[in-house]
Amino acid sequence: MTEIDLDHRRQSKAATAELRADVVAGLTAARKWLPVKWFYDDVGSELFEKITQLPEYYPTRCEREVLATHAGEVAALTGARTLIELGSGSSEKTRLLLDALSGHGTLTEFVPLDVSESALAAAAGAISGDYPGLTVRGVIGDFTQPLDRLPGDGPRLVAFLGGTFGNFLPEERAALLRSLRGVLAPGGWLLLGTDLVKAPDVLERAYDDAAGVTAAFDKNVLRVINDRLGADFDLDEFEHVSCWDAEHEWIEMRLRASRALTIEIPGAGLTVRFAAGEHIRTEISAKFRQGGVDAELSAAGFALDRWWTDSRQRYGVSLAQAVLPR
Ligand code: SAH
Ligand code: TRP
Repeated sequence: MTEIDLDHRRQSKAATAELRADVVAGLTAARKWLPVKWFYDDVGSELFEKITQLPEYYPTRCEREVLATHAGEVAALTGARTLIELGSGSSEKTRLLLDALSGHGTLTEFVPLDVSESALAAAAGAISGDYPGLTVRGVIGDFTQPLDRLPGDGPRLVAFLGGTFGNFLPEERAALLRSLRGVLAPGGWLLLGTDLVKAPDVLERAYDDAAGVTAAFDKNVLRVINDRLGADFDLDEFEHVSCWDAEHEWIEMRLRASRALTIEIPGAGLTVRFAAGEHIRTEISAKFRQGGVDAELSAAGFALDRWWTDSRQRYGVSLAQAVLPR
C-alpha cells in the first residue's frame, strides 16, 4: 500500500512564495547565499543520483557499506515498527534497513519524507511494490519546518542519511535535532549519517568531479530560479567551485560570476548585480569527528548508542536514542 500525503505548505503556489522570499533574502545579502532545498526539483534529484555513482563521490558507497554491515544490529537494537526517513531521495540504501527490519519481524510502516515530489513518488512506488506487506506513506514536506506528530506506531526509528545533516550550519543542525527530539518519545531512535574529516584534496574532488556532474547540480539551483521566478541567469556565466574551509571543517560550494553581471528576477521583483568574481554560497557540506557528533546529539537530548564507520573510516553512522530531559 502506498499513500502520498501532499503537505499543503509545499504545494506549488506556497513553494513559489517561499522560493521568492529565500531568493530575496539570499541574493540581497552582503555575502550572497541560497538555501539547500531548492536544488532538488526533478532535474536536481536526477543529477544527485548521478553524483552518488561518481568515482570521486565516496560518501554513498561508504554509507552503504556501514548499513550492509550493521543493519541487522540496528534491527535488533531498535525493534522498530515504523521507519521514518528524512530527505529520503531515492531511498536506495534504505532498503538495507527495510530488509533487516522486515527480517526481524517488527517493521509495519515506512514513511519517507522529501521536498522532491518526483524522487519521493518514484521511491515510494518502487518500495511499496517490492515490500508487499509494508505500509508506505510518502510525505512531501520540509524537515526544517516544525515537524508534526510522527505517524505510525512505536518504537520508531528516524533515518537521516546521505550526509544531508552536514548541509546545515551548526545552529540549524541544533534546531533540527531539537525539533526531532521534540516529536520523538523517549526511547525513540535516530540513525544519522555523517561524512568525516579527511584530506582536503579527497574532499574537494568529491564535490567537483571530472565529469562536471556536481557543477551541473550546483548550477541547477539557478535553473530552478529561472524556471519559477522568470530570472535570466545564464548558467554558462557561472563557475562551480568547491573549497575546504579548514576553520569550520566544511566544504563550501560556490557559484562564481565569470564577469560583472546584472540579473533580472521579475518573479521576486529584484535586480541583482554581481561584480566579476563575486560568488553565491550555494551549499556547505560539513565534515565531522565522532566527538563532535556525540556532542551535538547530547545537546539535543539524544544519547549516542553505537558509532560505526566504513572499513577506511571515511564516513560515520550514529545510532542514538531519545533520552528523558534532565
Ligand atoms: N537520503 C538520500 C538522498 C540525499 S540528497 C541519500 O542518502 O542518497 C538530500 C535529499 O534531501 C534530497 O532528496 C532532497 O530533496 C532532500 N531535502 C533537502 N532539503 C530538504 C528539506 N528541507 N526537507 C525535506 N527534504 C529535503
Ligand atoms: N548531502 C550531500 C553531501 O553533502 C549533498 C551534495 C553532494 C551536494 N554533492 C553536492 C550539494 C554538490 C551541493 C553540491 O555530500
